[in-house]
Amino acid sequence: MPNSELLNKEDLVAIIDSVDIGIIFVDKESRFAFVNKVGEKIRSIESKERIGTSVLDCHHHKVREKVTQDMNSFKQGDYASRHKIIKTNGHYFDNTYNVVKDEDGNFLGVALLSQDITEKKYLEDELKKANAKLEWKIKERTKEINQACEKLKVAEKQLLQSEKMAAIGQFVSGLAHEINNPLDGIQNCIRAVIADPNDKEQTGVFLPLALEGLYKIEVLVKQLLEYAKPKSSEMKSCNIKNIVEESISIVRFKLKEKKIELHTHYENEDLEIHGEAHYVGQVFVNLLINAIDACEEKEKIEIKIIQENENVRVKIIDSGCGIAAEDIKKIYDPFYTTKQKKNGTGLGLYLSYNVIKAHGGDIFVKSEIDKGSEFMIELPLAAFAQKAVIENKLIEELF
Ligand SMILES: Nc1ncnc2c1ncn2[C@@H]1O[C@H](COP(=O)(O)OP(=O)(O)O)[C@@H](O)[C@H]1O
Ligand SMILES: [Mg+2]
Repeated sequence: MPNSELLNKEDLVAIIDSVDIGIIFVDKESRFAFVNKVGEKIRSIESKERIGTSVLDCHHHKVREKVTQDMNSFKQGDYASRHKIIKTNGHYFDNTYNVVKDEDGNFLGVALLSQDITEKKYLEDELKKANAKLEWKIKERTKEINQACEKLKVAEKQLLQSEKMAAIGQFVSGLAHEINNPLDGIQNCIRAVIADPNDKEQTGVFLPLALEGLYKIEVLVKQLLEYAKPKSSEMKSCNIKNIVEESISIVRFKLKEKKIELHTHYENEDLEIHGEAHYVGQVFVNLLINAIDACEEKEKIEIKIIQENENVRVKIIDSGCGIAAEDIKKIYDPFYTTKQKKNGTGLGLYLSYNVIKAHGGDIFVKSEIDKGSEFMIELPLAAFAQKAVIENKLIEELF
């Protein structure tokens, strides 16, 4: 049904006047031909005064040429519509210019729809400012978190060092014993030489013997000092069997003290990991001391090195007291210890877990009360380490 049957021109004007958008129609001669109520307000014009006057009259002479060019472009069909945001009298307007044609496609003029978007723009600006503030805050927080992480890393390294000192304490008690034997021998040799300095044959035998004893002591002390020294962090390829063997030598007095049998089974002696050997070694020392602590005298501990695809697995199996199922989930918690009487720190497994994770590896435990425990360290072989460390980092980021 044609509109004309229901609405007359006044009705249409009333409708157009009621919308909250300025509507201005400029005819093909560039004259104001229609301005609705909002349009009058926006342009501060009275339609009665303006109707029939040229649009150029209300533009500064500097932009008249541009306005004429634009009108011509609309007329020639260079563009059917244009859109721009302009600012006048402190208000922002979203302007859309649309070409109007009659039924035969002849150019009638240009309709300008103008919407006051000052408030929207203000809100958008506020939102942008709030966003910028938020981003800045996030950056600050990230910086703070990174700094806290760095501090945590330093603290963890210090803890590692203190855990190492705890291991040294045990090493030293065995060492004292071990030093006393050669010391007795050295004393006897020197006493004999002093008692009979002219006995060249005796001196020739006893002095080298005393020297040998001193050498033994020197090696032990050197090893202790080397182990106690804080190490610089450097990731490099290292032989896993050597790391395991060094860790065993740190706990050998403790093994001896308890008369524990240690069995080693290395499936492959040439496996290399990529990492900080002294930290990984510290993990094995922790696990071995735990295994020894769990054992009664004359029990057995087994160490196995196995290759499993891209990883090396080191298993430390003891026949000790085992861990109750309900306690297993607590053993990696910092300060969880059942060795209150034996000066346990409860940090060994917590630190071991972190060291192994930082190397792109994992740690597993199987245990049964009164039967024993098996701790398994899985580390990527050097050739695959980079990939595993990155994947582990991604996992950490995800959670
Ligand atoms: N091989 C093991 N056998 C039995 N219990 C173990 C073993 N390893 C660890 N645990 C348990 O886990 C606890 C935490 O170990 P750890 O973090 O090394 O601290 P700490 O040795 O100082 O107690 C131990 O106190 C012990 O109860
Ligand atoms: Mg421990």
